[in-house]
Amino acid sequence: MLVIISVLHVFTVSVLLSRLPTDPIKEYKSCYNEKFHLLLNMSEIEPFLCENYRKQSAIFGTNKVDLPYGTRKGERYFDVALKKLPKCDLPDEIRNISCKKCVVVGNGGVLRNSTLGKKIDSYDVIIRMNDGPVLGYEDDVGQKTTFRLCYPESIFADSLHYDPNTTVVLMMFKPHDVKWLSELLLHRTVSTYGFWRKPAMRLIYQPHQLRVLNPLILKQVSQNLLNFPTSFPKTEKPKHPTTGIIAITLALHICNEVHIAGFKYNLTSLNSSLHYYGNDTMSVMAQNEYHNISAEQMFLRDLIDHKTVTNLT
Ligand SMILES: *[C@@H]1O[C@H](CO)[C@@H](O)[C@H](O)[C@H]1NC(C)=O
Ligand SMILES: *[C@@H]1O[C@H](CO)[C@@H](O)[C@H](O)[C@H]1NC(C)=O
Ligand SMILES: *[C@@H]1O[C@H](CO)[C@@H](O)[C@H](O)[C@H]1NC(C)=O
Ligand SMILES: *[C@@H]1O[C@H](CO)[C@@H](O)[C@H](O)[C@H]1NC(C)=O
Ligand SMILES: *[C@@H]1O[C@H](CO)[C@@H](O)[C@H](O)[C@H]1NC(C)=O
Ligand SMILES: *[C@@H]1O[C@H](CO)[C@@H](O)[C@H](O)[C@H]1NC(C)=O
Ligand SMILES: *[C@@H]1O[C@H](CO)[C@@H](O)[C@H](O)[C@H]1NC(C)=O
Ligand SMILES: *[C@@H]1O[C@H](CO)[C@@H](O)[C@H](O)[C@H]1NC(C)=O
Repeated sequence: MLVIISVLHVFTVSVLLSRLPTDPIKEYKSCYNEKFHLLLNMSEIEPFLCENYRKQSAIFGTNKVDLPYGTRKGERYFDVALKKLPKCDLPDEIRNISCKKCVVVGNGGVLRNSTLGKKIDSYDVIIRMNDGPVLGYEDDVGQKTTFRLCYPESIFADSLHYDPNTTVVLMMFKPHDVKWLSELLLHRTVSTYGFWRKPAMRLIYQPHQLRVLNPLILKQVSQNLLNFPTSFPKTEKPKHPTTGIIAITLALHICNEVHIAGFKYNLTSLNSSLHYYGNDTMSVMAQNEYHNISAEQMFLRDLIDHKTVTNLT
């Protein structure tokens, strides 16, 4: 299928090149990022699920794979939830930018006192994750948020943090997450059963601000980019990518240039701040059995060394 997709892609490019007047071609060529396309195998994956996701899932085989790397076991809730989401593409004002320069802002303690706020706010697209706040940290992390990747246990529920210009990208890790989304969109009482931490009990965002991340992107991160095994012995927790790496991969899909900030984790310095906010230390992350931070750090080092992405911190 990827072969067909890349053939289509080449076809689309040549059609574009033959039809566009001179200047847009130049722009298209200068924006085209070959490194991203090679890394992602030229795959033109729709980043977000739409109401007709079943068709896409069947084409890519993700209908035969359980959440979070496919749609299986979530269908009855996806059907309900996606019907309630009016949009499944990039926001217009972002899609209209032909050369998208993006920054992915991790929540790492390295951002403390970084004074990177103004620089971060100068990008076309600013991607943040989970409940990493901007309120009170503007000098170091900026104040604009284009996309925020989160899941039910990490999405803001306090309207203090509401930003009308943000599009929230939901990662669905388990069937309960999709159930949660469908209940909120139907204005039903949310069941808190099955979560590892209390999920948000209300949505502070409008439905048009919500998207559901295509599980195929999670699969690509885990299996192709981080090379995580697909099965784990019973004595070991399955490893899932952190939101940070997922966010960077999303950026590689939708942007033409990607910079990152706040991604330095030093696991040997257990006392250092884990995040730029709050009091958690690195020891919290070192104890997390569901991630493989060293594998992620190696992957990131590779991206930076090959100048695929630029590191600001
Ligand atoms: C995006 O571009 C389309 C087509 O050129 C235009 O109709 C629309 O108004 C633009 N939207 C924004 C938000 O800039
Ligand atoms: C950040 O700056 C404040 C005030 O200047 C200082 O008290 C604090 O120790 C600094 N934090 C770090 C992590 O450097
Ligand atoms: C949202 O974007 C509009 C238009 O760019 C801007 O005027 C407004 O200040 C932004 N609001 C927030 C909360 O950032
Ligand atoms: C790209 O394709 C190669 C060869 O089939 C495979 O080894 C690699 O994991 C793929 N990478 C992605 C990101 O799909
Ligand atoms: C990580 O922390 C240790 C101990 O504080 C320090 O010796 C080392 O240089 C740090 N490594 C990096 C890459 O910052
Ligand atoms: C780590 O933190 C503890 C308690 O705050 C302190 O006593 C200790 O000196 C710190 N160790 C390092 C290496 O900074
Ligand atoms: C972090 O620790 C400081 C000092 O002990 C405390 O005042 C503050 O409330 C703590 N913050 C959080 C989010 O727990
Ligand atoms: C983490 O990933 C590295 C590199 O792929 C691997 O060598 C290591 O065994 C993994 N650790 C765990 C706990 O899965």
